[in-house]
Amino acid sequence: MTPAEHRTENMRGKAGSKKAASKKAAGTSPVNRDTTAAVTVIDHPMMQHKLTLLRKQSTTTTEFRQVMREIGPILLYEATRDLPLTDRKIRTPLKSVRAPVLAGKKLCLVPVLRAGLGMVDAMLSFAPSARVGHIGLYRDPKTLEAIEYYFNMPRSLPERHVIVVDPMLATGHSAVAALSRLKRAGARTLKLVCLLAAPAGIDLVQSEHPDVPIYTVSIDEKLDDHAYIVPGLGDAGDRLFGTKKPAKSGKTKPSRPARE
Ligand code: URA
Repeated sequence: MTPAEHRTENMRGKAGSKKAASKKAAGTSPVNRDTTAAVTVIDHPMMQHKLTLLRKQSTTTTEFRQVMREIGPILLYEATRDLPLTDRKIRTPLKSVRAPVLAGKKLCLVPVLRAGLGMVDAMLSFAPSARVGHIGLYRDPKTLEAIEYYFNMPRSLPERHVIVVDPMLATGHSAVAALSRLKRAGARTLKLVCLLAAPAGIDLVQSEHPDVPIYTVSIDEKLDDHAYIVPGLGDAGDRLFGTKKPAKSGKTKPSRPARE
């Protein structure tokens, strides 16, 4: 694959830079843009096309699931691009050679429930020996804090490269809570993979976890008043599992369910 075929855009602290700059001026942002891990936007035309399919309101649950499955392994491919290699002596049918093999740590994929589940199974086709941990978080409607309701990780977590799969990086609260919890459980090298990111979410992750690189297919414009990504694709969990609630009768516009 040539570099032209596989363009990625590395952005170090570009998202919401205006907001980050004003926070910094107020002395509240610990972001050091020079040492913060990169945000990689996978702007490959095939990925952009697939993302458009996900965004379309007319895309059915079946199609949405299928496209999430197509995108998952490519995001993982990009997030594992820098895994270290060593070489090992092997014998081909023709001769002995030293050939590259992955060195050291193996992978642990951690989908954030629910939407993360839509990509993980397909990611395993690319990394079949990866372990999978699960984390479930919901937002307390009063305090807005991320509350953990499920956490189940392999014992080998500290020895693995941990890839957190949180498709919608909106406010960043659940991603930050998941990353903090994983670090407390012993995870040492972490990456965050998402389908869509909002500038506010990127800013929060970069300020709380500057060591964690972020991989996404798009940095969207903003969040709306309900913390949905705009233009976004709606509620990824609902679209994936077909659980969107019907609009209440008498209303002209459907009211939004509480976001995960
Ligand atoms: N989670 C979603 O599923 N969609 C959004 O737009 C934001 C968070």
